Amino acid sequence: MKPISFKTLAVATALLCGAATGSVLAEDKVAERTEGKTPAYPGIPADSLEKFGGQAGVDVWVDDLFYYILADNRINQIFNTHGHVQRQMALNKELESMVLGGPGRYTGASMSAAHAELGITVTQFNAVVEDAYLACDAARTPYHVCNQLIAALAPFERAIVTK
Ligand code: HEM
Repeated sequence: MKPISFKTLAVATALLCGAATGSVLAEDKVAERTEGKTPAYPGIPADSLEKFGGQAGVDVWVDDLFYYILADNRINQIFNTHGHVQRQMALNKELESMVLGGPGRYTGASMSAAHAELGITVTQFNAVVEDAYLACDAARTPYHVCNQLIAALAPFERAIVTK
C-alpha cells in the first residue's frame, strides 16, 4: 500500500477539525453573540470589572491614581510638563474599564503613540505601578483584584518604556 504523505494527513486533519469546530460553533449561541458583555482579555476573569466595583470603582481608582502620581516626586514632573491630566484621567477610566472586561471602548491614542516622545524608563513605569497599588489601597480594593488590573496593564510596558 502507498504510504500516506504528511501533506495528505495534515489536510485530512484540518478538514476533520474544521468540520468538528463548525458544528460546535453552530450550536454555540454564546459564540454568535455580537452584543452584551465584552469578554475580558485572555487570562483576566470575566467578573473582574464587577469585583473592581464596576465603572464607579474604576473611576474612583483613577482619581486616586492621579492623586498619587501628582504627589510622586519620582515622576510628577513628567506629568506637569507633558501631561494633559484631565484628558488622561478620562481616557484611563475608559481603558481600565475595557481591560477589565467592560463593554465600553477606549477612544484615546495607542499606548506607543501616547508615550513615544516621553523617554519613559522602566523605573518610572514601576513608580506608576506602585502608585496604582496605593490607589487600590485607598479604594479598599482587595489585593488579588488589584493584581488582575495590574496584570491586564502589564503588557503595555513594551509600548510605554522607550529608554
Ligand atoms: C500601564 C501604564 C500606563 C497606562 C495604562 C497609561 C495610559 C495613558 C493614557 C490612556 C494616556 C492618554 C492618551 C491620549 O491622550 O490619547 C496617557 C498619556 C500620558 N501618559 Fe501614560 N500610561 C501609562 C504609563 C505612563 C507612565 C509610566 C508615564 C510617565 C512616568 C506616563 C505618562 C503619560 C503622559 C505624560 C501622557 C500625556 C501625553 C500627551 O498628552 O502628550 N504614562 N497614558
